[in-house]
Parts: sequence; C-alpha cells; structure tokens
Amino acid sequence: MSKIYGTDENKIKALDNVSFSIEKGEFVLIVGSSGSGKSTLLNMIGLLDRPTTGKVFIDGTDTTNLTDDKISSFRNKKLGFIFQFSNLLTDLTVLENVLLPREIAGTNDSAEKNAIELLTAVGLADQINKRANKISGGQAQRAAIARGLINNPSIVLADEPTGNLDSVTAEIIVQLMKSMAKKLNQTFIVVTHDQHQFGDVDRVITIKDGKAFEGNLPSEMEVLV
Ligand SMILES: Nc1ncnc2c1ncn2[C@@H]1O[C@H](COP(=O)(O)OP(=O)(O)OP(=O)(O)O)[C@@H](O)[C@H]1O
Ligand SMILES: [Mg+2]
Repeated sequence: MSKIYGTDENKIKALDNVSFSIEKGEFVLIVGSSGSGKSTLLNMIGLLDRPTTGKVFIDGTDTTNLTDDKISSFRNKKLGFIFQFSNLLTDLTVLENVLLPREIAGTNDSAEKNAIELLTAVGLADQINKRANKISGGQAQRAAIARGLINNPSIVLADEPTGNLDSVTAEIIVQLMKSMAKKLNQTFIVVTHDQHQFGDVDRVITIKDGKAFEGNLPSEMEVLV
C-alpha cells in the first residue's frame, strides 16, 4: 500500500509501496527515524485511516470496501490499541476505563471479571476503583494496556507505548506486553524508537522514507516488495 497526505504541491508520500504480512502471534517491532512513516503504517493496519492505494487484509478479510460502520465494529472486535499517552478518561475509575471498549462492543458478559483479571495481571489490583487522574503515569500506561486487551483482540497495535515513561517503568511495561502476547497468543505490532528496550522479538521491520525493510538497517537491506 501507499499513503499520500495532502494534495498537489503539498503532497507527502508517507508510505511508498509497502507490502508484507505478519503471522498470528508474532511480536513485531516497527522502527525507523522520526517522520519515516511508522505511525502512518500503524494507522493503516489499525484501520484508523485508509491507504491511498493498496489493501489491508486482517484475518483474511479485505478491509478495503468495508463501510465506516463495519470498520468501526471490526476495529473494536479485532484490534486493541495502546498509545504513547494512556488517554484514560480522567472522570472515570481505572476499572471503568478498562471496561469502555467492552461496552462499545456491546458484549458485557463477565466483562467486569475479565477487566479485574487483566488489571491484576498488569499489577493494578489495588488501583481499580481509583479515578484515572489519581494514579501515576506508569500505572496509567498499565491500565491502558489492560484496556487495549479487554476485547481479547487478535492484534494489538502500540505506538511508542513506553515513549513517555522512565526506563524502569518502561522495562516493566515491555515485559508485561511480551508476557501478555505469549499468554494470549496475540499478535503485537509495536512502534518504538528504543528497540533495545524490547530485547529479543520475533521480528523487526524498519521504515525508511516510507519504505519497509525486513530487519535493521543498514546491515540487512532486503526490501519488502
Ligand atoms: N495527517 C497528516 N497530514 C499530512 N502529513 C502527515 C500527516 N501525518 C503524518 N504526516 C507526514 O507523513 C510523514 C510520516 O509521518 P509519521 O507520523 O508516520 O512518522 P513517524 O515515523 O511516526 O514519526 P515519529 O517517530 O516522529 O512519530 C511525515 O513526513 C509527516 O510529516
Ligand atoms: Mg509516530
């Protein structure tokens, strides 16, 4: 796929003929310099925006011709998002924040039990009834991970999930994501500018000037076509 922002003289080719597939259960890092197109790529995979040309297939479904309504429900059911800033709603409790995507999905069976399990797994068992503006940044990010996983998404997309954290908290968050990925056999696609923080992962994709390369540059220059 390709993604062009803007029109005429202001055109920016943010993604340039990128093509690859990611297997179920893979933990994939997307790396590359600022402005290279990482977030654009994640937004396309996450169906938050549509490519200018090309297609995104998820679990065998060609998402190109889905209506916006279908896309929303598809996204809500299949995809989980974790962003650089936790984006919790401060008027709600930690538990209520985690439950939100579940309410949108309209599947409330054992929702609270699942939310509490997830919050326990991320180490927030004692924070669940606090308002979201009364917890620390690292705790908020852990709550955001629980929220990203509440609908049991097949794919979790994270854009700089540790970018806003000190290195010790970042390490905890990384280990947490890796252990959740294993436990739930979920696919994780994580944008980071700090690859070494993640240690061993299944795969690294480098984005450079809107093009995708397998592995790290410059030693491995195998272009994904
Ligand atoms: N909504 C937009 N409208 C116009 N141009 C955009 C838009 N979003 C991104 N761009 C441009 O597309 C290119 C890729 O941006 P993108 O946000 O994907 O980079 P990135 O790799 O995520 O960078 P960073 O590491 O700084 O977050 C950049 O040149 C950017 O200026
Ligand atoms: Mg970005």
